[in-house]
Amino acid sequence: MRLVSATTALSYLLFIFLPPSPLQGQEAEEVTPKDKLIIETVLRLQNFDLESSAPAKAAVMRYLRAEQGSERYFELIERFQPAEIVESLVQYSLANASETGGVRAAELLFAMDKGDYLVETTTSDNETNARAAVQLIGHVAGKQTVSILLPLMQNDAASVGVRTSALKALGKRLTGQQQIMKLVTTGNLADDLKFAAANALLGSTNKEIATTAAKHLELPATADSQPLPALSALVQRKGDAKAGLKVFQTAGTCNKCHKVRGEGREVGPDLSEIGSKLSREAMYVSILDPSAAVSHNFETYSILTLDGLAITGLLISQTDKAVTLRNSEGIDKTIDQEDIEIFKKQKTSLMPQDLQKLLTVDQLVNLVEYTLTLKKPGN
Ligand code: HEC
Repeated sequence: MRLVSATTALSYLLFIFLPPSPLQGQEAEEVTPKDKLIIETVLRLQNFDLESSAPAKAAVMRYLRAEQGSERYFELIERFQPAEIVESLVQYSLANASETGGVRAAELLFAMDKGDYLVETTTSDNETNARAAVQLIGHVAGKQTVSILLPLMQNDAASVGVRTSALKALGKRLTGQQQIMKLVTTGNLADDLKFAAANALLGSTNKEIATTAAKHLELPATADSQPLPALSALVQRKGDAKAGLKVFQTAGTCNKCHKVRGEGREVGPDLSEIGSKLSREAMYVSILDPSAAVSHNFETYSILTLDGLAITGLLISQTDKAVTLRNSEGIDKTIDQEDIEIFKKQKTSLMPQDLQKLLTVDQLVNLVEYTLTLKKPGN
């Protein structure tokens, strides 16, 4: 039988032919030349059962830990599907959700019947991971995508960011678009998803969906009193970065809340290197639909005091004695804990939701061009 002879050949390789590696027996994580030889061999053997050889298994696991994301890494997992790799494969896919490698890792998880790990992550408190999981499911879950992501998109307990990611992933396939459309036409789509829905459906390649969407959804109007073009059209346009700088400091009011290279007020994140962080499309979304992608550490909180004062802002500090919030004018207010009746994290961004109405389409395109030039040094 092939299996027996293959295994025999391998034990020969392991125990007789090669001298023991100097690292053997220690907790060495380095991949030795011997490991590499074993790996070459087991990959060539058909029907080889990795569980039948502890040394071969150890070599493979060492390799998988040391060479994450390499071609061989994926090949080994696909071939042997070791149960021990699942957790780190989940982490790898989440950390690389926007790269080919992350999507490949997610494909393997579904192939190993471990897609549930990603599905569970969609409801994690870690917003970044939750959104990464949604994005991956959209790429790899195939027919299951709609049944996983449609309920999530409508789950009030999930953040706007996660629900928007679910909508975007659903919007990439026709069956998903049809489901979103159903919610739109029956008036059941949440208001905070309308911007994303308009972008997903108005630009549909399916004519019927695009036409019906135009009857029900409208992108918000700009300063030209025209509705915004769809994101898919905006990202095709090139602007004038120099003119964009001026928009940033004047019509757009961006510098009232953002610092760039030391200038501007510090309510929102410093944007000096934002062009290295966000793609053109993500930049538009950050500006036009800020609540869909609230950046970490910039969540909005609100306080209602016992005597009825309402304050909304970013959390600057919180102790047993008092809480300090910074409002959208950049003013810090400190409230004693004993005066607070309600203290709550908000789902929306402190950044205004309707900045497009201050800008013409050309100004917006120039503004985005400018923000994309704000890169890390040497990048
Ligand atoms: C009233 C204050 C305010 C104004 C005005 C404002 N922003 Fe913001 N902005 C914020 C806050 C707060 C955040 C962080 C929360 C979030 O991500 O939504 C933010 C986030 C961002 C982000 C995402 C940053 C990141 O690290 O992901 C970008 C890009 C951005 N703003 C660009 C702009 C531009 C361009 C303008 C002008 C058109 C502008 N903002 C106007 C407050 C403001």
